[in-house]
Amino acid sequence: MRVLGGSREAAKELKLFGLRKFLLDRFTRLSDQIYDENVSLARKRLIAGAGLSIIGTAGYYAAYVLVVWRTVTGALTIGTLTFLSGAILQASSNIQQIFSTLSSIADQALFLTDLLAFFQMQPTIQSKPNALPAPRPIRRGFEFRNVSFRYPGSSRLVLENLNLELRPAERVALIGENGQGKTTIVKLMTRLYDPVEGQVLLDGVDVREYDLDDLYREIGVIFQDFMRYEMTARENIAVGRIESAENSSLLFSAAQKSMADDVIRRLPAAYDQMLGRRFDGGVDLSGGEWQKVALARAYLRDAQVLILDEPTAALDARSEYEVFRRFAELTAGKMALFISHRFSTVRMADRLIVLDDGKVVEDGTHVELCRLGYG
Ligand SMILES: Nc1ncnc2c1ncn2[C@@H]1O[C@H](COP(=O)(O)OP(=O)(O)O)[C@@H](O)[C@H]1O
Ligand SMILES: [Mg+2]
Repeated sequence: MRVLGGSREAAKELKLFGLRKFLLDRFTRLSDQIYDENVSLARKRLIAGAGLSIIGTAGYYAAYVLVVWRTVTGALTIGTLTFLSGAILQASSNIQQIFSTLSSIADQALFLTDLLAFFQMQPTIQSKPNALPAPRPIRRGFEFRNVSFRYPGSSRLVLENLNLELRPAERVALIGENGQGKTTIVKLMTRLYDPVEGQVLLDGVDVREYDLDDLYREIGVIFQDFMRYEMTARENIAVGRIESAENSSLLFSAAQKSMADDVIRRLPAAYDQMLGRRFDGGVDLSGGEWQKVALARAYLRDAQVLILDEPTAALDARSEYEVFRRFAELTAGKMALFISHRFSTVRMADRLIVLDDGKVVEDGTHVELCRLGYG
């Protein structure tokens, strides 16, 4: 609630929808609830603590009374009395120390269980031992063979018996309305998920056989919801291939390809400009400008396959067409995948695949699909 109430992103809607009272009420309810739980815990602690403290104090004085009594009756000398009373005091504080140490160990152990459980977590998708290096160059391309997929924890099949091929040196457009599984196909190619049934093959070999980092290296993807890093413009591009962060000429040429160079050179500190509003002196970009910066990451990457997953969703059809046209030019002779929900903006692709309800419903060139009534 506090993050929501204090965030810049939420401010517009919170104001216009008049959500102030709603948020405040919910915040108050939650903090009252947490306060009550704290009070009840403190009360339990007080009662248990008082009980134990009474037992401790009683034991302490009982020991004193016994020693004094034995001295008075002559069983102990005054010297022993002095010695024993010192010892009782010391023992009592040592015992207290032991208990408080034990209790703080018990406290910390609660966190430790979390930490150990965390260390034991393994990613569900890992490279096999003796995994193959990714092919370079790719000779036969990607093939989805009878692939079905559902997200973990969901019962609905997003892709069902999907078959498609992406061949080397071919620029393919994947078209489908929102929620048809376009992004999911990219996630399966890049092994962010594994199919439930069927196989994704790269050069005829199941992608599960390849070394994961190697596979990642060969595929450059800009997702629809790409990241806007609160870092400098230079770093925002360099994340596409962080090893080349210092190589300015590579970086600039990637920025020129994506048209981010013009945007960045207009900023007060150019490539060293801090982006985003979080830091002092940071400059925020518009949606379209951020997209150009993100796109430069893909061009910086020395990958064999480039994928643009509707990074243009915030652009109008005309600008989206321009982005794809430029992307097509720059990826000529390379393997590329353009993803869009608009048929019109991706017509320059060598082949178009139309996805509906998790299945391929059309597959052909722009001319062929136009003859079928698309476009
Ligand atoms: N992480 C996820 N967990 C569960 N369901 C998801 C997840 N991501 C996407 N979906 C569902 O899978 C379907 C396909 O999503 P997606 O591939 O993102 O579609 P597209 O990119 O074509 O718009 C949608 O119905 C969406 O709700
Ligand atoms: Mg998508």
